Formats: sequence, structure tokens, C-alpha cells
Amino acid sequence: MQGLVLDTEQKTAFVKDIPIPEPGAGEVLIQVYTVALNPIDPLYVHNPLGATGRTVGSDFAGIINKLGEAVPSTSGLKEGQRVAGFLQGACSVNERPGSFAEYAVAPWDLVWRVPSTLSFEEAATKNLCGLTAAQAVFFRLGLPAPFTWKGKEEEDRIRKWAKKEVYFFIAGASTSVGMYAAQLVRRSAEVNGATIRLLGAASKQRFSLLKSEPYGYDDLVDYRNNDWVEHIRALTGGKGVDFAYDCISEGNTVKTVSETLNNSGNMAIVRSREGNAWNAEDLPVEPIYGAVWEGLGIEIQYQGFTVPTSPEARAFAVAFFKWLSEGGELSANPVRLMPGGLDSIVKDGFLLLGPGSMEDREHTRTESWMRPISAEKLVYRVGEWN
Ligand SMILES: NC(=O)c1ccc[n+]([C@@H]2O[C@H](COP(=O)([O-])OP(=O)(O)OC[C@H]3O[C@@H](n4cnc5c(N)ncnc54)[C@H](OP(=O)(O)O)[C@@H]3O)[C@@H](O)[C@H]2O)c1
Repeated sequence: MQGLVLDTEQKTAFVKDIPIPEPGAGEVLIQVYTVALNPIDPLYVHNPLGATGRTVGSDFAGIINKLGEAVPSTSGLKEGQRVAGFLQGACSVNERPGSFAEYAVAPWDLVWRVPSTLSFEEAATKNLCGLTAAQAVFFRLGLPAPFTWKGKEEEDRIRKWAKKEVYFFIAGASTSVGMYAAQLVRRSAEVNGATIRLLGAASKQRFSLLKSEPYGYDDLVDYRNNDWVEHIRALTGGKGVDFAYDCISEGNTVKTVSETLNNSGNMAIVRSREGNAWNAEDLPVEPIYGAVWEGLGIEIQYQGFTVPTSPEARAFAVAFFKWLSEGGELSANPVRLMPGGLDSIVKDGFLLLGPGSMEDREHTRTESWMRPISAEKLVYRVGEWN
């Protein structure tokens, strides 16, 4: 099969003929139809952690080609089933092949069943960013989830929240992560009748999209205006927000977003202190960081530190994907279908996403598909299926 593999020395990736993987016990082999791009895919190609030859890429959708041993019959999975999920690709020191290839292998309970009403292009967008947002909103910040992953403890949490009124602020509301986070905050409010006022920061051109369904922001500020923190505080009657989620977490955003919090407020971020994308002292509260990879439930070595195995994070990921399989309400982010398949990912998609930071994204090309990424997910078709 063809796969996009890492070249550690040249800090790039190239398409190569590689063997089709075999599913192990509890795994499924998937024929990959579409892949969605995430900023971390080019980040760890430009700053490689893995060895040359590692298959890169995270998000995928496709059909099950083969079930490995010990996949339970209760899983509802069978050959030909439409599924989606994510892998770690070349984003760690650990040897784990990614998804940018014609076939990929994944644990059966970390893929979800894609309904016939959703395209493969849309399905590929939901996995990594959907789970990242769910981890932040429910697992890290503790809002009640529309699914149970802890039994009684989770039910108690839902009861505790009943009829509460809270402000939730999302910085980077037009990012892929932010667009899923907004929807999940809405689902949380529906769980127990809490009133959640959703506030966000995005560029002005995205306000009407973000105020409409399925996001439903109550108010938005333009992050390019210098006084947006005061504006957010004013919208809360001067008290500050209860929760903030910084979906950018670079430069001075963590410090600035922390200034929107009330005295007992809490915030989550998408990039770690150790990664040095941001630096801030004297924060009112230490922001909660976590890597989406924790959901895979295996030890991760990356960015100079080790994230230990977390059975709890894995159980959460399984519950989230089960919720999606069962029709959990989460609209796919808008798709930008990119031309060219695997061969074009590095020269187009990775160029658009840049080497890591939002600020480093450059726009030198004039083709329509090379416009800046704003409230859209880059998706490629893989193989000959269409
Ligand atoms: N912790 C994890 O495991 C994890 C998982 C997934 C992603 N991430 C990280 O999360 C971040 C977001 O990823 P993504 O895929 O969601 O990004 P994305 O969709 O590519 O983000 C693009 C958007 O960022 C917005 N933006 C840029 N700078 C901004 C700023 N200063 N304030 C507000 N908005 C700004 C732009 O908004 P406008 O067009 O409106 O200007 C654009 O719509 C990345 O750094 C990524 O690496 C972390």
C-alpha cells in the first residue's frame, strides 16, 4: 500500500510503498478513505520525534477490511462497516504507525460507527479535535457530559450542576477544536437544564457562523481588538467567567485568557508549558493541559516528557466514541476537500498549517484551496475508492 512516511533527517515526509499492517488481538484493519489534517501532523514532521519510515498522520475515516481476534461480537463491527478514529502517527517517540496510508490498524473500541448520513470527509474531522474538546470540557474542566464514563460519580456530578448558571469562554472559537467545544458545552447544558452563557473570541468575519446553529454563541469578541478582555468581563457583569478554554495557547494568549476568569474560575489549554509555545508567570490558576493521546490509554513520550498510561482517560475516550456511534449530536466541522490525495499533503496541507504556531502560518500561494484556514478542516481522499 501507499503511505506517507517520515524523513527525520530532511524534516519532511514522502509517499512510499509499505506493507499493509495486520490487525492484532482486539484491533481492526481499516481501508482508509479520507484523512483530516491537524496542526500536530506537520509539527512533528518539522520537529521529528520518530524515526525515518514512521507512517505519519492522525485522523481517518474508512471501512473495516478485517477484524482481528478477540473483537467482541457485541461491538457491532463487521467487515464493510463505515468507521472513523485517530492514531498517534509520528507525534511521539513511541513506535506507532499513523493513518496517512491506504490501510491502518486501530483498537476496536477507539473507532466509532459512522452513520450513512455522514460523508467520509465529514467523519474524518470529528475524531481528534472532537475528543480533544470533549476531554477539556468534561474530563478536565468537569462539566457534566451527555454520556457516562464513570457510573455513579458522573451521575453525582450531573446532579450537582442542575440549574446552575455559568459563563464559559472559548478563545479561538473558529478553530476546529473550539467549534467542537462550543457544541459540547451546549450538550452539557442540555443534560441537566443548566444555563450556560457561551462567549468566544474569533475574527469578526466568523461571528455570524458562530452565532448560528450548531454553535449558538451568546456573544463574541474580535481577538484582534486590544480591549477584548474588558469586553468579555463586561459581558459577565464585571465578575469574569467561570471557565475558559484557550484553543490557541501560544505567545501571550494563556496570560490574556486567564484575565477573563472570575476568582474561582478554571481554564484549560491546548499546548503545554513544556512545549514552550507560551510562557506566563503569576497566573491566577495553573491552566489544565492534557494531550489528546491520553485517550489512547498508552504511555506517551513526547516534547521531552512522558505522559503515563491513564486507564481513566482511555475509558473516557471509549465512552465518547460510543456516544458518537450511537448518534450523539455533534455536527461535523466544515470541510475543505483538498485536491491530490496523499501526494499533496506535504506540499499543500502541511504548507497551509505551517511548522507549528498559528503565527508562523504563511500564505504565499494563490490557488483557491490554499487560502488561510479559518473555521474549516483540511481533508484529503486516499486511495482509489471514489
Ligand atoms: N492538546 C492536544 O492534544 C491538542 C489536540 C488538538 C489540537 N491541539 C492544538 O490546538 C490548536 C488548535 O488546533 P485546530 O486544529 O483547532 O486549529 P485550526 O482550526 O487550524 O485553527 C485555525 C483558526 O485559528 C484562529 N486563530 C488564530 N490565531 C488566533 C488567536 N490569537 N485568537 C483566536 N483565534 C485565532 C483563526 O481564526 P480566524 O480565522 O477567525 O482569524 C483560524 O480560524 C493547535 O495549536 C493544535 O496544535 C492540541
